[in-house]
Amino acid sequence: MRQAGRSLPEYRAAREGTAMLEACLDPALASEITLQPVRRHDVDAAIFFSDIVVPLKLAGVDVEIKPGVGPVMGSAVRTAEDVARLRDLGPLTAEQLAPVAEGVARTVAALGSTPLIGFAGAPFTLAAYLVEGGPSRDHLAARTLMHADPETWVALTEWAADVTGAFLRAQVLAGASATQLFDSWAGSLGLADYVAHVAPASARALSHVEDLAADGVRRVHFGTGTSELLVAMRDVGADVIGVDYRLPLDEANRRLGGRTPLQGNIDPALLEAPWPVLEAHVRDVVARGAQAPSHVVNLGHGVPPTTDPDVLTRVARLVHEI
Ligand code: CP3
Repeated sequence: MRQAGRSLPEYRAAREGTAMLEACLDPALASEITLQPVRRHDVDAAIFFSDIVVPLKLAGVDVEIKPGVGPVMGSAVRTAEDVARLRDLGPLTAEQLAPVAEGVARTVAALGSTPLIGFAGAPFTLAAYLVEGGPSRDHLAARTLMHADPETWVALTEWAADVTGAFLRAQVLAGASATQLFDSWAGSLGLADYVAHVAPASARALSHVEDLAADGVRRVHFGTGTSELLVAMRDVGADVIGVDYRLPLDEANRRLGGRTPLQGNIDPALLEAPWPVLEAHVRDVVARGAQAPSHVVNLGHGVPPTTDPDVLTRVARLVHEI
């Protein structure tokens, strides 16, 4: 989950003096940072150190990640002309994606038998950053655009789907064993808007890795505040649904008809609670998750930067014991 490494002193030391997106595009550094939490916590899989805006950057979008803020654009994308300029940047080429592919290949070689999860942002979450120009509370400008100018919205989200889909595909071709599509802000949408204005682009993004599913490369789809969207998020072509901390997994499993593997659900807020409280929560999450066809234990959202890394190690050990 995002920021797993940020709570680690070795991460802060490795990142010293290097901007976030610069670190993502340095294959040796990205690989080293990916390995750090695996070494420390003895988890069963690694997630590639990168960011959802990396493919935008590679395509030529003026974007940076401001510490404590998140992705910020040089200028917001609001009009048909703005979107046409984006589309002129074209789809991502293998050459542009080379630093990502090299970072993944190095990481997979160093991980040995531990699998690597590749990931990308879903078109809506990327569009929310592009249209707002940066992080926002309720993604009002993006949600307005889809209704005010549906044609421009479709052009924008189709472009985002192809750029993010190419990023995802490059990671699998370089050796990632599974993919995760993060639609972090989809929870600001009602079901009708999700189905009409967002699901087609998410399906298009996942279609870039559809043929690789035959080789066992499973697709995880995650959002926050998406308790009402779980079925629609599965139906765009996901094999596994990531569940945040808001909905217990037995209920998520019921909503998904008992046939979809789940991921997630430990509440990041509890990482700073007294151990007996956290332990009871982890045991409850695992017990409820056992009702689903399978469950990849994970947090329900990112690791808070103030988390004591030893607590994460202890949680991983507890889950292995269970
Ligand atoms: O933990 C990991 O390193 C896994 C790799 C990873 C990162 N970003 C690295 C990162 C993953 C999977 C992401 C995905 C991501 N990035 C999402 C989707 C997941 C989610 O959390 O909902 C989103 C929305 C982003 C955009 C983004 N990037 C935000 C909101 C931030 C936080 C900004 C802040 O400082 O509060 C980032 C920065 C970021 N991406 C960091 C890391 C390790 C922190 C950079 C730092 O300060 O060192």
